[in-house]
Amino acid sequence: MSRGTSDPFDWLDEQAGLRRDAGLVRTLRPRPADSPLLDLASNDYLGLARHPEVTRSGADACLRWGAGATGSRLVSGSTELHAELERELAAFCGFEAALVLASGYAANLAAVTALTGPDTLIVADSANHASLIDGCRLSRASREVVPHADPEAVRKALDGHDGPAVAITDSVFSVDGDAAPLPALAAACREHGAAMLVDDAHGLGVLGAGGRGAADAAGLAGAPDLVCTATLSKSLGSQGGVVLGSARVIEHLVNSARTFIFDTGLAPAAAGAALGALRLLVREPQRAERARAVARELYGRLTAEGLEAVRPDACVVSVRAPSPEAAVRWAADCRTEGLSVGCFRPPSVPDGISRLRLTARADLTDRQIADAVGTIVRTAPRD
Ligand SMILES: Cc1ncc(COP(=O)(O)O)c(C=O)c1O
Repeated sequence: MSRGTSDPFDWLDEQAGLRRDAGLVRTLRPRPADSPLLDLASNDYLGLARHPEVTRSGADACLRWGAGATGSRLVSGSTELHAELERELAAFCGFEAALVLASGYAANLAAVTALTGPDTLIVADSANHASLIDGCRLSRASREVVPHADPEAVRKALDGHDGPAVAITDSVFSVDGDAAPLPALAAACREHGAAMLVDDAHGLGVLGAGGRGAADAAGLAGAPDLVCTATLSKSLGSQGGVVLGSARVIEHLVNSARTFIFDTGLAPAAAGAALGALRLLVREPQRAERARAVARELYGRLTAEGLEAVRPDACVVSVRAPSPEAAVRWAADCRTEGLSVGCFRPPSVPDGISRLRLTARADLTDRQIADAVGTIVRTAPRD
């Protein structure tokens, strides 16, 4: 840097100061392989990330197919393992076809950008996940953000529009854990000939028969006007993303979705682990119901103790905190007492309300649930 000029990154210190003053500093906390903490923070809803069958399936895939996919899917990065995973995901979720990408984030960017154009109207729920929002930003479509979980607002937004339209929503919202009213949203879309794109990141493995997802639960699986996305990193305990839809939608994505075409294929270990988890879930469908029951149990016990929480529709249980600082302190106190919980605060929450975010897991025992509730209640902010 030449003398006399200021450091071009000086503004970062100012930003850091503002974050500190607002109590919004985020830090990484690498966890050890064998953490002594009870985990209510991860998205491992079915307890499969460390299931021996799933890790073995991932390790075997790594040994057989290599550590990396070696290229983008259209060049060298498509293995028979990817094709097998896509066939089984599509069959499980009740769709004609599936396309696996490197992450759920990439799957959402792919689906939103490839299925919309300059003439399209996107009608987006105001609480949609950041990856859907970014997909909308990248698309060249016009956008209307509508109030949360409001089919009437979707209907109104579509009313005046003449041309292609897509309503976009999470199936289960990641901050509060509430579910979108999919049947009513689908009805509003169908009145206007609009398509619907649903991000089922928090529904796959949890909702529907044996965890077949939100579209199955809503009786919409396989509908030609519906496209679903999901991540392989939550209930399937692995990594990666998927788009589910009709064969012609998937064929279109293969030919036009930039986050599919210009990205290295999903690592074989991740594909193998996801396939192992999926097969295990097919054999043990009760895991999905158990995960939902644990969420209801956490919610029931916490609210009985006077805490304010949102009734969970899947595995996310959101407990209100009075301020960002109180939420951070509360999560830290839980940690000191041996419990790991998530902490959501601005800017990750659109409404500015800070929360503890707890995630239910199918493999939590009744004793662990009781201990977790005891810790959260004991450490709750007073007044
Ligand atoms: C609703 C939702 N969509 C998409 C994603 C992104 O998935 P991935 O982590 O696989 O990129 C996440 C979470 O991480 C999510 O919560």
